[in-house]
Amino acid sequence: MSGNPEVKPLDNLVIEGGNPLSGTIRIHGAKNAALPILAASLLAEGTVTIHNVPRLLDIDVMLDILRDLGCKAYYMDRSVVVDSSLASSSHIPEGLMRQMRSSVFLTGPLLARFGEVQLYQPGGCAIGERKIDLHLRGLAALGAEIQEKGSRIVCRAGQLSGAEVILDFPSVGATENIMMAAVLAKGRTTIVGAAREPEIQDLQAFLNEMGAQVTGAGTDTILVEGVSSLTGCDFEIIPDRIVSGTVMVAAAVSRGDVTLEGVQPRHLTSLIHVLRRAGVQIEVGNAIMKIGASARPKAVERVMTSPYPAFPTDLQAQVMTFLSLADGVSVIKETIFEGRFKHVDELCRMGADIRVDLNTAFIRGVPQLYGTTVEATDLRAGAALVIAGLAAQGRTVVEQVHHIDRGYERIEEMFRLLGGDIVRESPERLISNHAR
Ligand code: UD1
Repeated sequence: MSGNPEVKPLDNLVIEGGNPLSGTIRIHGAKNAALPILAASLLAEGTVTIHNVPRLLDIDVMLDILRDLGCKAYYMDRSVVVDSSLASSSHIPEGLMRQMRSSVFLTGPLLARFGEVQLYQPGGCAIGERKIDLHLRGLAALGAEIQEKGSRIVCRAGQLSGAEVILDFPSVGATENIMMAAVLAKGRTTIVGAAREPEIQDLQAFLNEMGAQVTGAGTDTILVEGVSSLTGCDFEIIPDRIVSGTVMVAAAVSRGDVTLEGVQPRHLTSLIHVLRRAGVQIEVGNAIMKIGASARPKAVERVMTSPYPAFPTDLQAQVMTFLSLADGVSVIKETIFEGRFKHVDELCRMGADIRVDLNTAFIRGVPQLYGTTVEATDLRAGAALVIAGLAAQGRTVVEQVHHIDRGYERIEEMFRLLGGDIVRESPERLISNHAR
């Protein structure tokens, strides 16, 4: 993996808590929109230029895979250019597939383009088992023949044909994969029970910009009229709603006053609702939001993660940090991923009082968290611990920062810009400093 050479897997974040965040920040492009859109660029006969692509480890892995398949794929400042005219392989390398589950997004485009794709089961990950059965069943409904041998999967189809695909659960990735496979299929595909996330609307807009005929994204029924070819285009990615939400929660936890620019408040309705119930002041404008909090938050008796437009699982950990400082008992139920409470033990080590019963966390608010050394077990858990560190009394060291780097562009610079006392330290540098 090329990755960002400056980011070392062993980096720590060191945070001196207690500064209220204040100031104005512009939010970077959405990772979860950029990944499927980069995969979909394989469908174009021509060059695709995608603007506002965040500089993240997961994006680097996707570009590595595209290059491995024979594409030209490179950053030009904040844009990524993909020329897939010389793509020659339909084999997603096992090592890269294991590094990033989102490589599964390439299945639909490769199948549509080459009539065949070879991939590997992405396997479980830190937040629980993440199956791809819905992706494969959807592709089978479009006429793909699927053979599984151990972890290796081969999908073949001479020409995909439009069909009705019924999803038992509104999986974001399966919806996107089926859309991407269906755009070059013969005839009409209807996806019933589709996921409704804003990133799916962004994928629809991108596919249509290339000449596809897709409608319905944002509702639970998506219609795709197959076309014979797609062309290159220029496209701008939506702002990252999870990064926006993380900054909003951090502003509230630190009892600060922060303005977010370049955001889409309508993508954050469920978070705005929870924060307002807890007493946070939020002013919403056109592509702008102001967050202010001066008092201790009130407990929120029920937050439940569910598919969009309900409360996102990707903000559950951050909101748990916030509610761990509230006045009273809050309850959070996680219904999307079974293993997504790894941050609880770490928050408790900082003084939080949280009890977990199966998929429900009972959070008895405490007046103060205290800095200590904690481990970022996954991307969003890591963000939650950074927020906890910003609010805590004393010094917090967050280890395993490479998880956070998968989804936040230099999170320490983002919070430093808002007045947070946070720096990145690499143990190697610390060792060499000591040696001097
Ligand atoms: C996407 C997001 C991720 C977010 C998640 C839920 C990207 C790159 N990632 O992940 O940040 O947390 O949506 O909002 O967009 N499932 C199956 N079979 C399948 C597919 C999914 O059982 O074939 C299950 C999963 O195990 C999980 C649930 O469905 O329990 C949701 O998964 P899904 O919506 O597919 O999430 P992702 O697309 O992987």
